[in-house]
Amino acid sequence: MPDTDFKSIVELDSELNQIQDLDLLLERILLEARKVVRADAGSIYVIERIKEDGEWREKLTVKYAQNDLLAQGLPPGQKLIYSVFSIAINEKTISGYCALTRKLVNVPDVYSISPDAPYSYSTAYDKISGYKTTSTLAIPLQTAEGRLLGVIQIINSMDSEGRVIPFSPDDEFLITHFANNASLALQRAYVTRAMILRMIKMSELRDPKETGTHVNRVAGYAMEIYDRWAYHHHIPEQERESFKDTLKIASMLHDVGKVAISDIILKKPGKFTPEEYTIMQHHTLYGAQLFEDPQSPVDILARDVALTHHENWDGSGYPGWIDPLTGRILRANTEGKPLGKKGEEIPLAGRIVALADVYDALCSRRVYKEPWSEAEVLAEIKRLKGSKFDPELMDVFFEILPSIKQIRNLYPER
Ligand code: C2E
Ligand code: SIN
Ligand code: SIN
Ligand code: FE
Ligand code: FE
Repeated sequence: MPDTDFKSIVELDSELNQIQDLDLLLERILLEARKVVRADAGSIYVIERIKEDGEWREKLTVKYAQNDLLAQGLPPGQKLIYSVFSIAINEKTISGYCALTRKLVNVPDVYSISPDAPYSYSTAYDKISGYKTTSTLAIPLQTAEGRLLGVIQIINSMDSEGRVIPFSPDDEFLITHFANNASLALQRAYVTRAMILRMIKMSELRDPKETGTHVNRVAGYAMEIYDRWAYHHHIPEQERESFKDTLKIASMLHDVGKVAISDIILKKPGKFTPEEYTIMQHHTLYGAQLFEDPQSPVDILARDVALTHHENWDGSGYPGWIDPLTGRILRANTEGKPLGKKGEEIPLAGRIVALADVYDALCSRRVYKEPWSEAEVLAEIKRLKGSKFDPELMDVFFEILPSIKQIRNLYPER
């Protein structure tokens, strides 16, 4: 496999750190950890590769923060807003020291840390939030093989009268046991993510034109289009971010159903006959079948996108109203064929990926066609407004054209 392919997958791997199910898992892990030792607040950090001054560095990034006292003051249904920040893995902070040494750190009072201790506590966050941190306990999350996944830091152990007390040796024991289980769960989520990446890789190997760069470009375009759409629709920040992460993976998998199409058709060096085209159209149904038993938001969106990315806004696309599993026609047209899905019957993600996919296909060389010029591509997209493409999404597309071009330059054809 060419080196560039491998590199793009590795980079993407680090970018996929926040899939929605992982977030839910982390939220639950932190909640349980706090319950086990009656901590009033806490944060969970995961290792992420972050680009800083042109270099990739591993840092601890706050993925989840909970605080009961502050949460009590909020209107119902509202979540605590925490500032997202990352911490270097060094001895200067409590969590950084914990990550560096892979040891549990138990500090009875962060405002009286011995000057001999390598770490100190920055009071800036307490000042902003108005919450006083006193006792804290940080513990590394690592795999059985010793790979560091992150750190759980819990704050302010409460006694039965609601007074803050230091964390006890019993707490240390409990939380160690807990961290081991949490690490296993976290590692399982990473394995799931790695399996999804392998699925993407597999579909690339099967179809020589579905290269790593094509998949990355389509995902990049789709995320940009969604982001601007969400801005116009006032989608809250948190929902926007989590939908984007899910959409990224789902859009990378849009053509995964092509793995079930024979090489003779998939790699045909020329135009399809109508029969061949009909067979190829089944890639939408095969793709949806791979997610027949959806386990997560990613699975559900991947199924939607695989199934509907060739539907057209005016109802002229495929595969239409058909059950991908049984082949049963759900709504028939006058010829007894499945009626095409139209307008908002097509899920938003399918409408977005349709636009991203065609834009990229037109710009690129295929076994059956040469790349088109920029002007030709944009004219064709405009021509298809309202017939093939959601007119609103098309307007969004032209609004963000500079970002689209930037992504194209980021992942050039080889
Ligand atoms: P693809 O090459 O990734 O193309 C995705 C979609 O981009 C196509 O969906 C079509 O809507 C659009 N597109 C691509 N090239 C052109 C073009 O030259 N002109 C126009 N107007 N639109 C274009 P579609 O047609 O449903 O095809 C799905 C997939 O089937 C294609 O994915 C490709 O893998 C395959 N395919 C389609 N037609 C042919 C063909 O004539 N020969 C071969 N070898 N493969 C084909
Ligand atoms: C920590 O102490 O680990 C959190 C970062 C800080 O406020 O110092
Ligand atoms: C979303 O939840 O952001 C998508 C809603 C839609 O499908 O219109
Ligand atoms: Fe497709
Ligand atoms: Fe494609």
